[in-house]
Amino acid sequence: MNLLEVRNLDKSFGGLQAVKQVSLDVAKGEILGILGPNGAGKTTLYNLLTGFLKPDRGEVRLEGQSLIGVPPHKVVGMGVARTFQLCRPFVGMSVLENVVVGSLGPRVPPVNLEERARHLLDQVGLAAKADTAAELLSYGDQRRLEIARALATEPRLLLLDEPFAGLGSGEIAALSTLIRDLHQRQGLTIMLIEHKLREFMQLVQRVVAIDFGQVIAEGTPEEIVKSPKVIEAYIGRQDEEHAA
Ligand SMILES: Nc1ncnc2c1ncn2[C@@H]1O[C@H](COP(=O)(O)OP(=O)(O)O)[C@@H](O)[C@H]1O
Ligand SMILES: [Mg+2]
Repeated sequence: MNLLEVRNLDKSFGGLQAVKQVSLDVAKGEILGILGPNGAGKTTLYNLLTGFLKPDRGEVRLEGQSLIGVPPHKVVGMGVARTFQLCRPFVGMSVLENVVVGSLGPRVPPVNLEERARHLLDQVGLAAKADTAAELLSYGDQRRLEIARALATEPRLLLLDEPFAGLGSGEIAALSTLIRDLHQRQGLTIMLIEHKLREFMQLVQRVVAIDFGQVIAEGTPEEIVKSPKVIEAYIGRQDEEHAA
């Protein structure tokens, strides 16, 4: 069975239909890429999957269980964790405390939480900064902290929203390695939104491309980069932006 099933999802904001009849599946253990230009509806889709927004129509099921109307903290409790496009560390807490807080939920037995948190910080390469105030971290380190905090909830499905945004090439390479490791070695199921195309295409197994809220193509990275609709919607327009 698929871990996640999305069927005919619709979401409008006033007159703007941000998500239109979106259906997709995420298989257990898969890393699925969501591709689309700015404003395509990618973050709105994540918000619909994680209880931050309620769809106008459609269904979202995690191993057969509906997530519609389930509030965000309960979605996390069911095993779906996300990171945000803009990092949101808990200010006034250390890096370690931020991760411990992430583990306070129904999925994690409340023992050895600090040890677990240290292990996760080690995994994301932040062990040396465990006692630093979270708001003092560099942007790249905040991204790692976001991921550690999401992992602390013991997710079955991890949703990453532009994890490479604002990072330098060294940081992107390190974070790519971490994401690959989470997927390949730890078998985590991941959805990835990312504009850094080269790294994105190397990481994901399958891509769902969306434009104006609708799925326009679906396939392997090799198929997607050849899709005329994707080239027109995404790559073509991006080139225009770069030329401008
Ligand atoms: N809370 C909201 N209220 C009104 N419009 C929104 C809201 N969230 C997103 N939108 C609009 O929906 C469209 C899709 O946005 P978004 O999902 O953030 O796109 P993406 O993440 O693909 O860049 C955009 O036109 C955006 O302005
Ligand atoms: Mg977005």
